[in-house]
Amino acid sequence: MGRRFAGVTEAKTGRCLQPGEFKGLFVMMRVDDLRESDRGWLYATVDPRGEVTASGPIASCIRCHERAPHGRLFGLVDAGVMWR
Ligand code: HEC
Repeated sequence: MGRRFAGVTEAKTGRCLQPGEFKGLFVMMRVDDLRESDRGWLYATVDPRGEVTASGPIASCIRCHERAPHGRLFGLVDAGVMWR
């Protein structure tokens, strides 16, 4: 897995952020089957070695994502807020 990221400067504080150890991922996937999914979305977690540790219509994920504003997605905060 590629890890050669340049540092990025965080907008709010001006601190330079560097990549550290890989901690794992939360993943969402769009599917056609509406009944076996959360309105067309499945959720998964991946550990630092790349192993999938949970997948499916995970209740804990759904509890928050069913309240997301863009069809289960939260998306980025308004750019206007970040650069103010
Ligand atoms: C406590 C509420 C909460 C829970 C529980 C939660 N999420 Fe989220 N999730 C959010 C919020 C808020 C964002 C958007 C803000 C951010 O990116 O930090 C987000 C963003 C995401 C994104 C980026 C796409 C987007 O919606 O912007 C993915 C992928 C994701 N979550 C997956 C998961 C998975 C998988 C689970 C369960 C293992 C999960 N989340 C559980 C609140 C939650």
